[in-house]
Amino acid sequence: MAKKVTTTTFMKKKESGEKITAVTSYDFTFAGLAHEAEIDMILVGDSLGMVVQGHPSTIPVTMEEMIYHSKMVARAKPLSLIVADMPFLSYETSVFEAVTNSGLLLKKGFAEAVKLEGGVEVAEKIEAITKAGIPVQAHIGLTPQSVHQMGGFKIQRDEDRIVKDAHAVEEAGAFSVVLEGIPSHIAKRVTSELKIPTIGIGAGIDCDGQILVMHDLLGLNRGHVPKFAKKFANLGDLAVEAFALYAKEVKEGKFPGDEHSY
Ligand code: KIV
Repeated sequence: MAKKVTTTTFMKKKESGEKITAVTSYDFTFAGLAHEAEIDMILVGDSLGMVVQGHPSTIPVTMEEMIYHSKMVARAKPLSLIVADMPFLSYETSVFEAVTNSGLLLKKGFAEAVKLEGGVEVAEKIEAITKAGIPVQAHIGLTPQSVHQMGGFKIQRDEDRIVKDAHAVEEAGAFSVVLEGIPSHIAKRVTSELKIPTIGIGAGIDCDGQILVMHDLLGLNRGHVPKFAKKFANLGDLAVEAFALYAKEVKEGKFPGDEHSY
């Protein structure tokens, strides 16, 4: 990837049919690795509340925390587009809050776009943020910040609602939309009806791109992993092996040897 990925790149890929790749990252090191792998988009996801902070949901994540993690990602200067999540309660209460907090993710967190959850009900906010010159990625279907309203992290199957939400966020000015936890045939329909690219997670093969949470795809998570989250590596097991080997060598008086001493 020789050139910086922008929202224009996203539109070009939709037109040409080239798939868009996206992963989450929450710090300098992993953002640099995603850049090296030529991933199109890095999402500083509020999933950090679960995979980094250990909360049972994304609800406790604050604006300050999102800015902190977004800054770390931006320091890696990736060619990947940096999108930062708007955390719960940073955009729901008013258009003013939504625009101000989106702006802060760019101004202080050095993100290049923001993502927020919801469809018809947040269209007004998406329009205002976009008018302020901030690219917005929408997120519909299974929206984790509404976990209590959905009664758990459940696959969303209301086709009419999903299609209405998709059109509403496109009309409001979103440059792309994440489709999470919906049946493949609905994602296929939405992808064919929209002009903006769809980025799927648990939404089947027909989306214009795919995103996965970094900890899931690298196999860093020890607990429950959802069906859609394919493990492309087993770094969790490798890390445990490396920690245990290190501890063994320390206990046996083998580390540090001459080659690691001055
Ligand atoms: O926070 C996040 O990581 C996300 C992805 C699951 C799309 O929103």
